[in-house]
Amino acid sequence: MEANGDGIQVVETDEIESAIRQGALEPLPATLPVLPLKDSVAYPDTLTPLGVVRDRSIRLIDEVLGAGRTLVLVASRDPEADDPTADQLHDVGVVGVIARMLKVPDGTIRVLVQATERVKIAEYVKDDPYLIARVEALPDRVEPSPELEALTRNVQRTFTEIIEEIPYLPEELQLAVTNIDDPSALANLIAGALRISTAEKQELLEEVDVARRLRRLSELLARELEVIQLGSQIQSQVESEMNKGQREYYLREQLKAIQRELGEEDETQAEVNELRERLDAAGLPEEARKAADRELARLERLPSAAAEYGVIRSYLEWLVELPWSQETPDNLDIGHAREVLDEDHYDLEQVKDRILEYLAVRSLNSESHGPILCFVGPPGVGKTSLGRSISRALGRRFERISVGGVRDEAEIRGHRRTYIGALPGTIIRALRDANSRNPVFMIDEIDKMGADFRGDPSSAMLEVLDPAQNDSFRDHYLDLPFDLSEVIFIATANNLDTIPGPLLDRMEVIQLAGYTADEKLHIAKRYLVPRQLAENGLKGAGVRFSDAALRAIIEEYTREAGVRNLEREIGTVFRKIARQIAESRKPKRKQTVSAKRARELLGRRRVFAETRRRTRDPGVATGLAWTPVGGEVLFIEATAMPGSGRLTITGQLGEVMRESAQAALSWVRGHARRLNPELSDDWFAEHDIHIHVPAGAVPKDGPSAGVAMATALTSLIEDRPVSPETAMTGEVTLTGQVLPVGGLKEKSLAAARAGIKRVIVPDRNEGEILEIPEHEREGLEFIYVDRIERALAVAIDG
Ligand SMILES: Nc1ncnc2c1ncn2[C@@H]1O[C@H](COP(=O)(O)OP(=O)(O)OP(=O)(O)O)[C@@H](O)[C@H]1O
Ligand SMILES: [Mg+2]
Repeated sequence: MEANGDGIQVVETDEIESAIRQGALEPLPATLPVLPLKDSVAYPDTLTPLGVVRDRSIRLIDEVLGAGRTLVLVASRDPEADDPTADQLHDVGVVGVIARMLKVPDGTIRVLVQATERVKIAEYVKDDPYLIARVEALPDRVEPSPELEALTRNVQRTFTEIIEEIPYLPEELQLAVTNIDDPSALANLIAGALRISTAEKQELLEEVDVARRLRRLSELLARELEVIQLGSQIQSQVESEMNKGQREYYLREQLKAIQRELGEEDETQAEVNELRERLDAAGLPEEARKAADRELARLERLPSAAAEYGVIRSYLEWLVELPWSQETPDNLDIGHAREVLDEDHYDLEQVKDRILEYLAVRSLNSESHGPILCFVGPPGVGKTSLGRSISRALGRRFERISVGGVRDEAEIRGHRRTYIGALPGTIIRALRDANSRNPVFMIDEIDKMGADFRGDPSSAMLEVLDPAQNDSFRDHYLDLPFDLSEVIFIATANNLDTIPGPLLDRMEVIQLAGYTADEKLHIAKRYLVPRQLAENGLKGAGVRFSDAALRAIIEEYTREAGVRNLEREIGTVFRKIARQIAESRKPKRKQTVSAKRARELLGRRRVFAETRRRTRDPGVATGLAWTPVGGEVLFIEATAMPGSGRLTITGQLGEVMRESAQAALSWVRGHARRLNPELSDDWFAEHDIHIHVPAGAVPKDGPSAGVAMATALTSLIEDRPVSPETAMTGEVTLTGQVLPVGGLKEKSLAAARAGIKRVIVPDRNEGEILEIPEHEREGLEFIYVDRIERALAVAIDG
């Protein structure tokens, strides 16, 4: 006995082992000490390691070591029993010799027992200080047969498979198993190595018929193999379910933690990691995510000083920042939408109805993306602000771009990444700003988009607006499809005529003509004044506007279809008042801005009711024109001078308008005698006629000034002025018929602005006039004519 370094005593029993090998221990002693095994079974011909803790057992080992070293190992029937008594033990066990003993410092001991043969307990002869029993040998029954042979091989094969599958069995066992021919020894070896229940082990031990033991063993092995295979199947399922992404995430987190711990996280890596985290959060669709991962991998390999590094990084930044999956929930309550529209805008009933219908369709069928709305009208009539209201009603974000003056397709669609300083186009940029994939997206000035050698932006626009293709809009810079189908696009334009046809086809046009003076007054009181008060810091300062002051501003300082200048002038008044209050240091007092005060503050009157003055002389008629900025009053001047019958036309007139001037002149010449019987027959041959339309900045074309031109010429040859309160519109044929024209609502608003009382219109336009709500006709009298004579009668003689 010697003490080793661990303080564990090792008892070598080499002589005994050699004695066992020589089979020198036969025959069995008459009685032997019995060591109960709590939860295991020992088999003949195997080495069994045992931990011995109970005092009784330790004493048993001690005494056995001093005398013969032989003992009996018997399994307990009840693994829970700490100190099993004789009747709690099985009847069959094995005889063994202690081959080694280790004393552990905690007072317990470990022994290695070489079991030799199976025995049956005949009777217990003593149970103090430990059990001693009389035992009888219980040898195997072996009858060699092909079946036994087959069973042996089967057990060998199955067991080999098991060894390959499970880690707890040492591989040497495989060699041992294939080398054992003796079926009995084979059964013992395998039974000892398997993790089966104690009861099953005991059952195998008690089976004396080797063939039956092998059969039972092969059943157990088959079950064991199945369990193992099922286990590894479950394992691999679990592994594959913990999908690649999760695994990667997990590994990367670990990697990051390790790098942080080691202080090795370099800048590039930190940046890549951050980008990856943000990409994870951005919810990219599959194709985009793949592209992003590819670029990330490239970034990871590049030194941060490389020129390409920045390019890739900003590309990835764009991918991260785009709202691939962010969206706002829609409020599709039509009642609520109505409230919002009314809150933000005065009147505009027809427009609001159209908008509500549009929203209603959306709410009934969320799949239908409907047509693109296009608000057409003069500046400052509320196109943009209606768009804002729609977004507010729906609870969507609002984003606005202007495509006016855009000639380059790349502005819409971006430049390819190979360009230095390339960026996504304006659509994608705006979506990033909106930070939602379903904003209300306003495209302003769609009528002012141009086209040149750099490509046609309207074809890119078409792709944006066309519901059939905008679910995969491809920006050149991103080079990835982006789904625009959830966006509500609203276009705005001043002029329908210059919107490219294919675009117009996809849009539902909603016209806003402008406001009457009364409407402007209401808008000012209800919206513009409160807003400007707040903007100029005068909220609560007690400053008010009288209606007369607002009317003065509307009539004398602004001439417009919309209300933008009106708002600006109101702002100017408030700004000046604010300054006065700030400078006077006197306590604020309430004040109401009168018309007089407004005129003082705004200075010289800017808009004059010119008609009376301009039409004072014969030869001048008041025409009405439609322009992209609303209706306009045009004065058509005609004069005659001695000459040879030539016609001169000036005032930047378009071709159609020139022709209509000629037609008017021809008609007047043809009827000169009837119009003015005193006129000499040669009058036209001896005079040159000059027709001039002042206000050169206003583009003038179209046939609708025909009536006004004929009236001006008639007034000239009759030498009688045209009624100053009458304006007119209509095309004239050579035979004197009056043909219908367009833009009547804008024209009538313009007439009212200019102080006109009576408007001569073609009778075939009556329907359109009646469509204008009564209160918007502003007390204008409309006179419907089908022939020029009738118009002349009203305008000159009326
Ligand atoms: N019916 C209305 N009720 C209340 N405010 C209005 C109304 N119409 C226009 N406004 C106000 O007039 C101002 C100008 O309107 P907005 O900017 O929408 O004009 P727009 O039609 O978009 O003009 P542009 O063609 O120049 O872009 C806004 O402050 C808007 O709130
Ligand atoms: Mg606008």
